[in-house]
Amino acid sequence: MSSTNKARVVVLISGSGSNLQALIDGVADKSLPIDLVAVISNRPEVMGLERAVKANIPAEVLDHKTFADRERFDQALMAMIDSYHPDLVVLAGFMRILTPEFTQHYLGKMFNIHPSLLPKFQGLHTHQRAIDAGEKRHGVTVHFVTAELDGGPAIVQASVPVFTSDDASSLAKRVQRQEHVIYPLAVKWFAQGDLHMIDGKSVLKGEPLPPSGFQIESDET
Ligand code: GRF
Repeated sequence: MSSTNKARVVVLISGSGSNLQALIDGVADKSLPIDLVAVISNRPEVMGLERAVKANIPAEVLDHKTFADRERFDQALMAMIDSYHPDLVVLAGFMRILTPEFTQHYLGKMFNIHPSLLPKFQGLHTHQRAIDAGEKRHGVTVHFVTAELDGGPAIVQASVPVFTSDDASSLAKRVQRQEHVIYPLAVKWFAQGDLHMIDGKSVLKGEPLPPSGFQIESDET
């Protein structure tokens, strides 16, 4: 950890940054003992960058479109991230597939949030797919990032009901409210030294977590 004894966190985004905002709010109300040392976006002019600037966090753009291939982009991204000496890298709506070299470099110190109850619905359009599959519950998972896309060990999962009246947008909103609860929670565990990835498993306070992670059930409508 840094000299201030707080975990140094770099957040990667591609868009609106509402999960970033949940972390910013946690720092502001002192519930989250971290230093947000940088926000990096692969897309210019997204709202998440404005959120970072407003919170006085260094905000950087590394536009993947200006790189010849995925390998060179990931190399440049690693160099940019490492210049901030993070303890933890948080992917918050970062819409890029990462090279194995990148995931290996941050193994055990990089989180992602995925809007489904993993291992269900890896990939895109998760809310519509959950509705189409007739799921009664749906949700969101925070997990350690490994080389397998949306496949690393789960840390925490929050589930919400799916109503027959739902469309993808109403369901996404219900899930997102839980995202903003569980992402700060997972980051807090890590920052306090309570959470580790050991032998490919998430371990919280010395106890291995179940394969789907710590479970939170919300019955919010
Ligand atoms: C979230 O729904 C997250 O689950 C997914 O991308 C979205 C990012 O939203 N990985 P935001 O940019 O944090 O608002």
